[in-house]
Amino acid sequence: MKHETMAFKAGVLHLLDQRKLPEIVEYFQARTYKDVAFAIGEMVVRGAPAIGAAAAYGVYLAAVEFNDLPKQEFQSKLQEANRLLAASRPTAVNLNWAIQRMERLVAAQKTENVDTVVAALLKEAERIAREDVETNKAMARHGEALVPHGATILTHCNTGALATVGWGTALGVIRQAHYAGKRIRVYADETRPRLQGANLTAFELVEEGIPATLIADSVAAILLRDGKIDLVLVGADRIAANGDTANKIGTYMLSEIAARFAVPFYIVAPVSTIDFAIPDGSYIEIEERSPQELTHIRGVRVAPEGIKVYNPAFDVTPHANITGIITERGVLRPPFDRSIAALL
Ligand code: MRU
Repeated sequence: MKHETMAFKAGVLHLLDQRKLPEIVEYFQARTYKDVAFAIGEMVVRGAPAIGAAAAYGVYLAAVEFNDLPKQEFQSKLQEANRLLAASRPTAVNLNWAIQRMERLVAAQKTENVDTVVAALLKEAERIAREDVETNKAMARHGEALVPHGATILTHCNTGALATVGWGTALGVIRQAHYAGKRIRVYADETRPRLQGANLTAFELVEEGIPATLIADSVAAILLRDGKIDLVLVGADRIAANGDTANKIGTYMLSEIAARFAVPFYIVAPVSTIDFAIPDGSYIEIEERSPQELTHIRGVRVAPEGIKVYNPAFDVTPHANITGIITERGVLRPPFDRSIAALL
């Protein structure tokens, strides 16, 4: 990617402002943990792995802010900040995963002074960011092996470099297959209501020169029915212990149609997206976002005042519709309760 999704420089987290793409390439500067929480909530930065890494830097920024406090006060203020960061978006488990990793480090440094803890937190946030790119590349290698030469791939939402620290999950597999010379073609769902497919996935695909066609979400059904799609690759925000997978709204519908026409349907996600603590998808909290995302397009009202709006940002794809889950540790196959438990 020509543009980095995030970069931490001189105490500031620079986030490529994804609300403005593709027209404007501009960085949002998060100087405090509250700025980071705002950026996640407002979707300046989005995508499960990206918000996890951003939150880790948020924890560090909070630690810097409370650096001068006595140890106990430092710890309680930091916990308060972490709660605010964790609440900025509820569905993607990577957010909690990253914050908990930072918290474990604080707990492990119990006997150290605050300065040492703060320095260690920066290193941990940097490690989380670095590992994310390595993890994505490992997933891409496992996933690429499943992509036939000349395949046409359907994808939903944005799962690329923009949704991660770099490279991407489902779009990372697509990238890898393209660079492996597989002559693939991509159909990208526009992904209503926020248009991550049109604004972000199309941006990445065009930038990389990967042959791609943008479609309205409702076009996917006829492509799947007519045998135009060889496989579907999507990302995930939270995967339950039985393989049920929360991802961008519309993924469930795609999975039903893919199952109906026996088109392979793969989830591409790091192990950090698996919530081992929940038995199935019914335990996943689904974020509901502002009605404005439907009543307005770029600030222009497109629905009458007074209309009721239902705007869940995610849905849950039942494990029965999933052919495989591509992780950095290999491809998980059904029965997922067993293949997921084996990761532990
Ligand atoms: O609401 P968003 O844009 O954060 O939703 C993103 C998705 O649903 C992605 O598919 C998911 O986070 C995986 S990204 C690698």
